[in-house]
Amino acid sequence: MEPIDRRGFMKSMAGTAALTGSELAAASEQPSGRPVFLATWPFGKSANERAAEVYHRGGSLMDAVEKGINVVEDDPAVMSVGYGGLPNAEGVVELDAAIMDGTRHRAGSVCNLHMIKNPISVARQVIEKTRHTTMAGDGAFQFAMKLGFQPQQLLTPASLKRWLEWKTNPNRQTFWLNPTENHDTIGLVATDGEGHMAAGCSTSGLAWKIPGRVADSSLVGCGVYADDRAGGASATGDGDIMTNYCTSVTIVQLMASGASPQEACEEILRHMVRTDPSNRSAQAAVIAMSNRGETGAVCMNPQFRLRYALWKDGASQLLDGKVLYD
Ligand code: GLY
Repeated sequence: MEPIDRRGFMKSMAGTAALTGSELAAASEQPSGRPVFLATWPFGKSANERAAEVYHRGGSLMDAVEKGINVVEDDPAVMSVGYGGLPNAEGVVELDAAIMDGTRHRAGSVCNLHMIKNPISVARQVIEKTRHTTMAGDGAFQFAMKLGFQPQQLLTPASLKRWLEWKTNPNRQTFWLNPTENHDTIGLVATDGEGHMAAGCSTSGLAWKIPGRVADSSLVGCGVYADDRAGGASATGDGDIMTNYCTSVTIVQLMASGASPQEACEEILRHMVRTDPSNRSAQAAVIAMSNRGETGAVCMNPQFRLRYALWKDGASQLLDGKVLYD
């Protein structure tokens, strides 16, 4: 990315050329004192509602993010996250998740986790119980076992049927440079209204991925990031692209340089297209929230429209993200 200082970044933004970042920040609303929860996709609505409930019952912001995401991980009807998620090319469900506390500036994540339906909770325990940040594969599974997580089969009859249909199709597409189906990650960004941020994401990853593939959702700064000094962000879509752009930390850094969440979300997707025009057709969408509770949500194109969920002042809504390129 071209170097962007605060003034330079704001000059690149239509309608804000006259403002420096600090001027813009000063003009923005102050923290409201009330929590806000922002999540990807329609299933994010029940995640936000659970997060708000946990928070209002005295849980921490991190508890709220974790328990909110658990709702989607537990739902077998969501075939891109947790239990019932579509498996890898060998029929094994491999889960990725990450969670970050923007106050402690501390993240935990797991990748290639098998047989545990709540990877976000294991990722949380990486923060709370260890000095590590990321646990992978069998080591992550053994770690979860030590902490009392229960192993279970994560394929459902519906996801097994989908995998068998794919596997027995002689013309099937694979990820050996021949991209296949899409999927939707749950990403949840939260503030307590006092400037504190937390964010998490969880996914079963791309359906039929090559076993062992790790992408943005378990890579801190790619699928998720939170920093009280600016805000939080999460990405959904093609995690291989999201990883190449360190998408979430870049959004948060753009906000730290004075961009609004919406401007920061648009800028990272534009940067993807500037560096590789073929990304214009990518499955890519992002959400972001400032530490003042302002939000942004953008998708790259109409083929991957982002419907997202916002919980604010007790109202739980589904909204459409901006489509950047028609
Ligand atoms: N965005 C999640 C993945 O590609 O695995």
